[in-house]
Amino acid sequence: MTYTEIKGTGSYTPSKVLTNEDLTKIVETSDEWITSRTGIKRRHIATDEYTIDLAEQAAIKAIQNAGIDKVDIDLVVVATVTPDHYFPGVSQLLQARLGLGKIMAFDINAACSGFLYALEIVDKMIKSGAYKTALIVGAETLTRLTDWSDRNTCVLFGDAAGAMIIGTSETDKIKDIIIGSDGDVNSYLICDNVELKNPYENDKSTQDHIHMNGREVFKFATRIMPQTVRDLLERNHLVLDDLDSIVAHQANERIIDKAARDLNYPLEKCFLNIHEYGNTSAASVPLAIDEAIRSGKLKRGDTFITVAFGGGFTWGGALIKY
Ligand code: ACO
Repeated sequence: MTYTEIKGTGSYTPSKVLTNEDLTKIVETSDEWITSRTGIKRRHIATDEYTIDLAEQAAIKAIQNAGIDKVDIDLVVVATVTPDHYFPGVSQLLQARLGLGKIMAFDINAACSGFLYALEIVDKMIKSGAYKTALIVGAETLTRLTDWSDRNTCVLFGDAAGAMIIGTSETDKIKDIIIGSDGDVNSYLICDNVELKNPYENDKSTQDHIHMNGREVFKFATRIMPQTVRDLLERNHLVLDDLDSIVAHQANERIIDKAARDLNYPLEKCFLNIHEYGNTSAASVPLAIDEAIRSGKLKRGDTFITVAFGGGFTWGGALIKY
């Protein structure tokens, strides 16, 4: 039986910061509204960097942190909804930039759950015995999809990348992963891309923005996250007290707070960095895990659940011993 573990993590955010105060000059909003409804104070935005640039910096740090030789990496998966091109993928650009071998590299899109989807894929590929060491990255320049005239959404998002090296382990560390989707409610959180374009229909817009039914997303998130945590615990014969921490997708502090209260789990044991970065979609989970580790809130030997939801709808959760 092949087991898997987190070998190392890294993250990167652009240096340009957009505060709530800055946003009041762009749309009719206030620091008080944004803070009380979301917990967000600042977000980092890319001004002269692309998704590949953020991904590269996070990946370099993860490789250093794992203490591996990059030649050992035999698989690259990047989760993103904001690739710099339709093709090539961010993953192939990353393979080239890092000077990795001619290995398998591909992008996936599962919105804010993308990193959990990527983890599920590489975990099973390594457990199959076919691969040994994977680089997975969640990287987004979500602000390029932001409608800066829509106060309902523009206050929520930021840009970031988080990376992880996943490899074989002698003991069972990435213990269980749950993944799900429900496309029936896709319109609650959607970013249309290109309209059909052909010689007969050539005057349609080619760029759209994020559209969100905030209340429906809120209801879904506060139902699916506690349910995923409960399911992971139940099928692994664990209870909440066995967890040292929960690291949830950072979409809204109120969502995490409500999910924690629903579970009867202390909010202090849920890692939070949304005040600094806002919602960074697929980058949110690896960025939060990396910061939890670097701040000492997650230590080697700790058991934690990471859980996310996103457009699609999609969701995922993983039970991990770090
Ligand atoms: N500043 C001031 N007022 C605002 C703002 C703003 N930035 N945004 C909305 N409002 C107004 C609304 O227009 C509304 O005014 P009205 O009553 O006159 O119509 C009022 O505030 C209340 O709006 P609500 O929608 O009731 O606010 P709510 O308490 O639901 O909070 C929020 C909105 C924060 C968006 C919440 O619904 C939420 O967090 N939903 C989930 C969002 C989420 O997690 N999205 C994930 C995206 S993932 C991805 O996109 C990849």
